[in-house]
Amino acid sequence: MHVTAIANQKGGVGKTTTAINMAAGLANAGKKVLLVDFDPQANASSGIGLNTDEHESSYQALISKLSLAELVVPTRIPQLDIVPAEMDLAGVEIELAGRDDQIMSLRNALAPIKESGQYDFCLIDTPPSLGILMTSALTAADDVLIPLQCEWFGLEGLAKIVQIIQQISQSGSNPDLVIGGILMTMYDNRTNLSKSVVEEVKNFFPEEVYSAIIPRTIRISESPSHGLTIFEHDKSGTGAAAYKRAVKEFLTRH
Ligand SMILES: Nc1ncnc2c1ncn2[C@@H]1O[C@H](COP(=O)(O)OP(=O)(O)OP(=O)(O)O)[C@@H](O)[C@H]1O
Ligand SMILES: [Mg+2]
Repeated sequence: MHVTAIANQKGGVGKTTTAINMAAGLANAGKKVLLVDFDPQANASSGIGLNTDEHESSYQALISKLSLAELVVPTRIPQLDIVPAEMDLAGVEIELAGRDDQIMSLRNALAPIKESGQYDFCLIDTPPSLGILMTSALTAADDVLIPLQCEWFGLEGLAKIVQIIQQISQSGSNPDLVIGGILMTMYDNRTNLSKSVVEEVKNFFPEEVYSAIIPRTIRISESPSHGLTIFEHDKSGTGAAAYKRAVKEFLTRH
Protein backbone atom coordinates (compact mmCIF):
# COMPACT_ATOMS: atom_id res chain seq x y z
CA MET A 1 0.00 0.00 0.00
CA HIS A 2 1.44 3.28 -1.10
CA VAL A 3 0.56 6.16 1.25
CA THR A 4 0.18 9.68 -0.13
CA ALA A 5 -0.54 12.69 2.09
CA ILE A 6 -2.38 15.48 0.34
CA ALA A 7 -1.00 18.51 2.08
CA ASN A 8 -0.56 22.25 1.98
CA GLN A 9 -0.74 24.31 5.16
CA LYS A 10 -2.53 26.99 3.18
CA GLY A 11 -6.32 26.80 3.46
CA GLY A 12 -8.76 26.42 0.60
CA VAL A 13 -6.29 25.35 -2.09
CA GLY A 14 -8.14 22.21 -3.18
CA LYS A 15 -6.70 19.54 -0.85
CA THR A 16 -10.02 17.93 -0.02
CA THR A 17 -11.39 18.24 -3.55
CA THR A 18 -8.22 16.57 -4.80
CA ALA A 19 -8.33 13.86 -2.11
CA ILE A 20 -11.93 12.92 -2.93
CA ASN A 21 -11.56 12.96 -6.69
CA MET A 22 -8.15 11.32 -6.89
CA ALA A 23 -9.35 8.59 -4.50
CA ALA A 24 -12.50 8.03 -6.56
CA GLY A 25 -10.55 8.19 -9.83
CA LEU A 26 -8.05 5.59 -8.61
CA ALA A 27 -10.92 3.34 -7.49
CA ASN A 28 -12.59 3.79 -10.88
CA ALA A 29 -9.30 2.73 -12.44
CA GLY A 30 -9.59 -0.58 -10.58
CA LYS A 31 -7.37 0.15 -7.59
CA LYS A 32 -8.34 -0.62 -4.02
CA VAL A 33 -8.22 2.71 -2.19
CA LEU A 34 -8.45 3.89 1.40
CA LEU A 35 -9.14 7.58 1.98
CA VAL A 36 -8.23 8.79 5.46
CA ASP A 37 -9.93 11.99 6.53
CA PHE A 38 -7.46 13.61 8.91
CA ASP A 39 -9.03 17.05 9.12
CA PRO A 40 -11.41 18.00 11.97
CA GLN A 41 -13.46 19.93 9.38
CA ALA A 42 -14.38 16.47 8.01
CA ASN A 43 -14.90 17.89 4.52
CA ALA A 44 -13.69 14.74 2.77
CA SER A 45 -16.17 12.64 4.77
CA SER A 46 -19.17 14.86 4.07
CA GLY A 47 -18.00 15.64 0.53
CA ILE A 48 -18.19 11.97 -0.35
CA GLY A 49 -21.71 11.84 1.03
CA LEU A 50 -21.17 10.40 4.50
CA ASN A 51 -23.16 11.51 7.53
CA THR A 52 -20.28 11.95 9.97
CA ASP A 53 -22.60 11.71 12.99
CA GLU A 54 -23.18 8.07 12.18
CA HIS A 55 -19.54 7.02 12.30
CA GLU A 56 -16.57 6.93 14.61
CA SER A 57 -13.68 9.14 13.50
CA SER A 58 -9.96 8.65 12.89
CA TYR A 59 -9.45 10.28 16.30
CA GLN A 60 -10.34 6.97 17.97
CA ALA A 61 -7.32 5.30 16.41
CA LEU A 62 -4.97 8.08 17.49
CA ILE A 63 -5.94 7.82 21.11
CA SER A 64 -5.71 4.03 20.77
CA LYS A 65 -9.38 3.40 21.56
CA LEU A 66 -10.01 1.48 18.34
CA SER A 67 -7.81 0.18 15.55
CA LEU A 68 -7.88 2.05 12.27
CA ALA A 69 -9.26 -1.09 10.58
CA GLU A 70 -12.31 -0.91 12.86
CA LEU A 71 -12.98 2.65 11.68
CA VAL A 72 -13.05 1.87 7.97
CA VAL A 73 -16.41 2.56 6.30
CA PRO A 74 -17.20 1.53 2.72
CA THR A 75 -18.39 4.28 0.35
CA ARG A 76 -20.93 3.78 -2.43
CA ILE A 77 -17.99 3.83 -4.85
CA PRO A 78 -16.76 0.26 -5.40
CA GLN A 79 -13.17 -0.25 -4.21
CA LEU A 80 -13.15 2.99 -2.18
CA ASP A 81 -13.26 2.92 1.62
CA ILE A 82 -12.88 5.82 4.01
CA VAL A 83 -11.85 6.45 7.59
CA PRO A 84 -14.04 9.44 8.42
CA ALA A 85 -13.17 12.45 10.57
CA GLU A 86 -15.17 14.45 13.03
CA MET A 87 -14.71 17.65 15.02
CA ASP A 88 -13.31 15.58 17.91
CA LEU A 89 -10.12 15.22 15.90
CA ALA A 90 -9.30 18.81 16.87
CA GLY A 91 -8.79 17.55 20.43
CA VAL A 92 -5.90 15.39 19.34
CA GLU A 93 -3.41 18.23 19.77
CA ILE A 94 -4.15 18.29 23.50
CA GLU A 95 -4.57 14.55 23.85
CA LEU A 96 -1.24 13.67 22.27
CA ALA A 97 0.78 16.58 23.69
CA GLY A 98 3.64 15.26 25.73
CA ARG A 99 3.44 11.74 24.34
CA ASP A 100 6.81 11.09 22.79
CA ASP A 101 5.38 8.91 20.02
CA GLN A 102 2.85 11.57 18.98
CA ILE A 103 4.32 12.15 15.56
CA MET A 104 4.23 8.37 14.88
CA SER A 105 0.57 7.98 15.87
CA LEU A 106 -0.92 7.69 12.39
CA ARG A 107 2.02 5.74 10.99
CA ASN A 108 1.62 3.17 13.76
CA ALA A 109 -2.15 3.06 13.32
CA LEU A 110 -1.76 2.45 9.56
CA ALA A 111 0.86 -0.28 9.90
CA PRO A 112 -1.53 -3.27 10.31
CA ILE A 113 -3.61 -2.13 7.32
CA LYS A 114 -0.44 -1.74 5.28
CA GLU A 115 0.66 -5.24 6.25
CA SER A 116 -2.73 -6.74 5.42
CA GLY A 117 -2.18 -5.84 1.77
CA GLN A 118 -5.86 -5.10 1.19
CA TYR A 119 -5.32 -1.67 -0.36
CA ASP A 120 -3.19 -0.46 -3.26
CA PHE A 121 -3.29 3.20 -2.24
CA CYS A 122 -4.03 5.25 0.84
CA LEU A 123 -4.69 8.98 0.46
CA ILE A 124 -4.70 11.19 3.56
CA ASP A 125 -6.57 14.49 3.52
CA THR A 126 -4.87 16.90 5.93
CA PRO A 127 -5.95 20.14 7.63
CA PRO A 128 -4.65 23.61 6.75
CA SER A 129 -2.39 24.03 9.76
CA LEU A 130 1.06 23.11 10.90
CA GLY A 131 0.01 21.13 13.95
CA ILE A 132 0.32 17.54 15.02
CA LEU A 133 -2.27 16.29 12.50
CA MET A 134 -0.26 17.56 9.54
CA THR A 135 3.08 16.33 10.91
CA SER A 136 1.64 12.91 11.80
CA ALA A 137 0.22 12.58 8.28
CA LEU A 138 3.58 13.50 6.75
CA THR A 139 5.29 10.99 9.02
CA ALA A 140 2.87 8.27 7.92
CA ALA A 141 3.27 8.99 4.20
CA ASP A 142 5.56 7.69 1.48
CA ASP A 143 5.12 10.91 -0.45
CA VAL A 144 3.20 14.16 -0.55
CA LEU A 145 0.91 15.46 -3.24
CA ILE A 146 0.75 19.24 -2.93
CA PRO A 147 -2.33 20.91 -4.41
CA LEU A 148 -1.43 24.47 -5.32
CA GLN A 149 -3.92 27.16 -6.20
CA CYS A 150 -3.01 29.15 -9.31
CA GLU A 151 -2.82 32.38 -7.30
CA TRP A 152 0.06 34.56 -6.30
CA PHE A 153 -0.15 33.66 -2.60
CA GLY A 154 0.03 30.01 -3.57
CA LEU A 155 3.71 30.45 -4.39
CA GLU A 156 4.50 31.77 -0.93
CA GLY A 157 2.77 28.79 0.66
CA LEU A 158 4.72 26.37 -1.54
CA ALA A 159 8.09 27.35 -0.06
CA LYS A 160 6.72 26.64 3.40
CA ILE A 161 5.32 23.18 2.70
CA VAL A 162 8.52 22.18 0.91
CA GLN A 163 10.48 23.29 3.98
CA ILE A 164 8.22 21.25 6.28
CA ILE A 165 8.68 18.14 4.15
CA GLN A 166 12.46 18.61 4.36
CA GLN A 167 12.28 19.06 8.13
CA ILE A 168 10.24 15.89 8.60
CA SER A 169 12.65 13.88 6.50
CA GLN A 170 15.75 15.36 8.16
CA SER A 171 14.34 14.88 11.65
CA GLY A 172 14.62 11.15 11.06
CA SER A 173 10.94 10.47 11.73
CA ASN A 174 10.37 9.74 8.04
CA PRO A 175 13.70 9.95 6.17
CA ASP A 176 12.26 8.65 2.87
CA LEU A 177 9.51 11.26 2.55
CA VAL A 178 9.49 12.96 -0.86
CA ILE A 179 7.32 15.33 -2.85
CA GLY A 180 5.33 12.99 -5.08
CA GLY A 181 3.86 15.80 -7.12
CA ILE A 182 2.48 19.31 -7.27
CA LEU A 183 -1.02 19.60 -8.69
CA MET A 184 -2.04 23.04 -9.93
CA THR A 185 -5.68 23.71 -9.02
CA MET A 186 -8.37 26.28 -9.80
CA TYR A 187 -6.70 27.28 -13.03
CA ASP A 188 -8.48 30.13 -14.77
CA ASN A 189 -7.57 30.22 -18.43
CA ARG A 190 -8.94 33.75 -18.79
CA THR A 191 -6.21 35.21 -16.62
CA ASN A 192 -2.52 35.68 -17.26
CA LEU A 193 -1.92 35.23 -13.56
CA SER A 194 -2.86 31.54 -13.65
CA LYS A 195 -0.46 31.03 -16.57
CA SER A 196 2.41 32.82 -14.90
CA VAL A 197 1.96 31.02 -11.60
CA VAL A 198 2.13 27.65 -13.41
CA GLU A 199 5.25 28.78 -15.31
CA GLU A 200 6.89 29.98 -12.12
CA VAL A 201 6.25 26.71 -10.28
CA LYS A 202 7.47 24.70 -13.28
CA ASN A 203 10.74 26.66 -13.23
CA PHE A 204 11.44 25.60 -9.67
CA PHE A 205 9.90 22.12 -9.75
CA PRO A 206 10.02 20.87 -13.35
CA GLU A 207 9.79 17.21 -12.34
CA GLU A 208 7.21 17.56 -9.60
CA VAL A 209 4.52 19.57 -11.36
CA TYR A 210 1.77 17.46 -12.88
CA SER A 211 1.08 18.19 -16.52
CA ALA A 212 -2.60 17.73 -15.70
CA ILE A 213 -3.97 21.05 -14.47
CA ILE A 214 -7.28 21.31 -12.64
CA PRO A 215 -9.46 24.13 -13.99
CA ARG A 216 -11.66 26.31 -11.80
CA THR A 217 -15.17 25.14 -12.59
CA ILE A 218 -18.56 25.64 -10.98
CA ARG A 219 -19.24 21.91 -11.30
CA ILE A 220 -16.21 21.04 -9.16
CA SER A 221 -17.18 23.56 -6.50
CA GLU A 222 -20.79 22.40 -6.25
CA SER A 223 -20.15 18.64 -6.26
CA PRO A 224 -19.41 18.30 -2.48
CA SER A 225 -22.73 19.93 -1.61
CA HIS A 226 -24.37 16.96 -3.34
CA GLY A 227 -21.98 14.53 -1.64
CA LEU A 228 -20.75 13.49 -5.08
CA THR A 229 -17.39 13.14 -6.78
CA ILE A 230 -16.83 15.08 -9.98
CA PHE A 231 -17.05 11.78 -11.89
CA GLU A 232 -20.61 11.39 -10.67
CA HIS A 233 -21.70 15.02 -10.67
CA ASP A 234 -20.43 16.00 -14.12
CA LYS A 235 -18.75 13.02 -15.65
CA SER A 236 -18.23 14.47 -19.11
CA GLY A 237 -17.14 17.94 -17.97
CA THR A 238 -13.69 19.54 -18.01
CA GLY A 239 -13.23 19.03 -14.26
CA ALA A 240 -13.73 15.26 -14.48
CA ALA A 241 -11.44 15.07 -17.52
CA ALA A 242 -8.70 16.97 -15.68
CA TYR A 243 -8.91 14.81 -12.56
CA LYS A 244 -8.92 11.72 -14.77
CA ARG A 245 -5.67 12.91 -16.36
CA ALA A 246 -4.21 13.58 -12.91
CA VAL A 247 -5.14 10.04 -11.82
CA LYS A 248 -3.47 8.59 -14.90
CA GLU A 249 -0.33 10.56 -14.15
CA PHE A 250 -0.44 9.52 -10.50
CA LEU A 251 -0.51 5.89 -11.62
CA THR A 252 2.44 6.40 -13.98
CA ARG A 253 4.42 8.06 -11.19
CA HIS A 254 3.69 5.21 -8.77
N1 LIG B 1 -11.09 23.26 -9.34
C1 LIG B 1 -11.99 23.92 -8.60
N2 LIG B 1 -12.88 24.75 -9.18
C2 LIG B 1 -13.78 25.44 -8.43
N3 LIG B 1 -13.87 25.37 -7.11
C3 LIG B 1 -13.01 24.55 -6.47
C4 LIG B 1 -12.02 23.79 -7.18
N4 LIG B 1 -11.32 23.07 -6.26
C5 LIG B 1 -11.84 23.37 -5.07
N5 LIG B 1 -12.85 24.27 -5.18
C6 LIG B 1 -13.64 24.86 -4.10
O1 LIG B 1 -12.77 25.69 -3.33
C7 LIG B 1 -13.03 25.53 -1.95
C8 LIG B 1 -11.78 25.00 -1.25
O2 LIG B 1 -11.51 23.70 -1.77
P1 LIG B 1 -11.10 22.51 -0.80
O3 LIG B 1 -12.05 22.38 0.32
O4 LIG B 1 -10.85 21.32 -1.64
O5 LIG B 1 -9.72 23.09 -0.26
P2 LIG B 1 -8.89 22.62 1.00
O6 LIG B 1 -7.47 22.93 0.69
O7 LIG B 1 -9.22 21.23 1.35
O8 LIG B 1 -9.43 23.58 2.14
P3 LIG B 1 -9.04 23.49 3.70
O9 LIG B 1 -7.67 24.04 3.78
O10 LIG B 1 -10.06 24.33 4.39
O11 LIG B 1 -9.11 22.05 4.08
C9 LIG B 1 -14.22 24.60 -1.83
O12 LIG B 1 -15.38 25.37 -1.75
C10 LIG B 1 -14.18 23.82 -3.13
O13 LIG B 1 -15.44 23.36 -3.51
MG1 LIG C 1 -9.81 20.43 3.19
